[in-house]
Amino acid sequence: SKLEKFVDELPHMPKILGYHLSDGVPKSKSLKIGMFKKKWKFHRDLAPATVYAFGTTKHTATVPGPTIEALYGVDTHVRWQNHLPPKHILPWDPTIPTAMTNSTRGIPTVVHLHGGIHAPESDGNANAWFTSKYNERGPTWTKKTYHYPNNQQPGNLWYHDHAMGLTRVNLLAGLLGAYIIRHPQIEDPLGLPSGDEFDRTLIVFDRSFRTDGSIFMSSTGNNPKIHPQWQPEYFGDAIIVNGKAWPRLTVRRRKYRFRIINASNARFFRFFFTNGLRFTHVASDSAYIEKPVTTNETLVGPSEITDIVVDFSQSKSNLAILANDAKYPYPAGDPVNEANGKVIKFIIVPDQEVDTSRVPKRLLEYPVVDLSSVAHTRYVAMYEYASDIDEPTHLYLNAKPYEAAATETPKVGSTEVWYVINLTEDNHPLHIHLGLFKVLDQTALVKPDDEFRECMKKINDAVKCHVDKYARGKKEEVPAHERGWKNVFKMIPGHVTKIAVRFSYIHTNASYVFDATTEPGYVYHCHVKYTYHFF
Ligand code: C2O
Repeated sequence: SKLEKFVDELPHMPKILGYHLSDGVPKSKSLKIGMFKKKWKFHRDLAPATVYAFGTTKHTATVPGPTIEALYGVDTHVRWQNHLPPKHILPWDPTIPTAMTNSTRGIPTVVHLHGGIHAPESDGNANAWFTSKYNERGPTWTKKTYHYPNNQQPGNLWYHDHAMGLTRVNLLAGLLGAYIIRHPQIEDPLGLPSGDEFDRTLIVFDRSFRTDGSIFMSSTGNNPKIHPQWQPEYFGDAIIVNGKAWPRLTVRRRKYRFRIINASNARFFRFFFTNGLRFTHVASDSAYIEKPVTTNETLVGPSEITDIVVDFSQSKSNLAILANDAKYPYPAGDPVNEANGKVIKFIIVPDQEVDTSRVPKRLLEYPVVDLSSVAHTRYVAMYEYASDIDEPTHLYLNAKPYEAAATETPKVGSTEVWYVINLTEDNHPLHIHLGLFKVLDQTALVKPDDEFRECMKKINDAVKCHVDKYARGKKEEVPAHERGWKNVFKMIPGHVTKIAVRFSYIHTNASYVFDATTEPGYVYHCHVKYTYHFF
């Protein structure tokens, strides 16, 4: 049966403050947030699905989880607790490197705060997983309570499971949520739309459902002879926003801020409004941009965050649908259809009050990246192919799989330039933990580049393979709203993307350097396949 769209109201996820006020003074807070197996209704006409949900109690747990609101400079401690019974609700594959084996007595999970700048021990390393009651623990597990200093620029983060070999299924089951760092002294003067009604977080992902309401994921892998279940990408036909399929929201004719997190496994969204309303970007991922940028559409890869202001007073109609036209897989897959091309319906009603919010000409200012002080230049090649014995293809970084020893060893507080060479067919959203980067340019490889590709398979050293000779094609324009500090960026296939990475805290006029840089170390990876690599 076909699900009717726009019948559920857009939910507000529960809010949890990451600080408390004592006589009006913000003080650090310790939270306990659990992961529970429960039922969740994704649509009015769907029976509740079994999910894994974050919450302070099972009863209040939601998909996505509660939004944690932290305050700049005030510590938030979270004890993430795993209450999941054994036997995964979704198919998983024991033949890929994974935390779960047939003898594991619980579901391994570990929480990563995506976009956070904190000590590695609190980063949710894939091998720092644990099962219910910490009965079993992964090899890099060190502690129960994670510490988030919130000593970074204000903005949008999200938390999600990061367990080895299970991240894709644990996220599909519901283990994700938003985390916002607020900095009132800096943000209030900007005058942007604020308060729970006008400043909203939208977590968007795609899912498919069986007729009984349960989440559908194919239990047969792309090459079941070798990996019975392993599928590198998941696409669902229903678009879920804050836990409801194609919800609707009644808005007033005034400005709203939407922090939109693409929490899909592999789906890119190119959002646009069916009635021509525009987006004014104020931030991207976890950081404000310097000046607002207005566009008609915005392409958001998996795990990217777009932070926009929409002025509904400019709407020519009383209805506006936020739609999507990104092919899947992006960029060369199928065109969207009637279902996955729609996201939310906005019903626009008159505003009885004066809208005093605004979008200022300037947002936040950052120090310029000084390329003369770059500590290191690195070449990172993403290449995907099948080994002689193995199928399907694997994603390699400089010919190394995730399990390989660390190769990149940057110093905290340093700035490096990386050339990321994407020799795969897909656009890969590259994510770097515990740092931020700026995209400097994206250059196509000149054709034919077969010699270069062959060389990269054999020697896998971009310099020795004469990357300079090939990285001279057309330069792709980096959209203005994505030229600020990012933690995820879209690596276009057949292109070399040059980024400046800063391995530390970045702020308007301060510079903060971490001293804890030891193991388990930092991670960078593609957010689609979670094939990643330590450094
Ligand atoms: Cu969004 Cu390594 O994570």
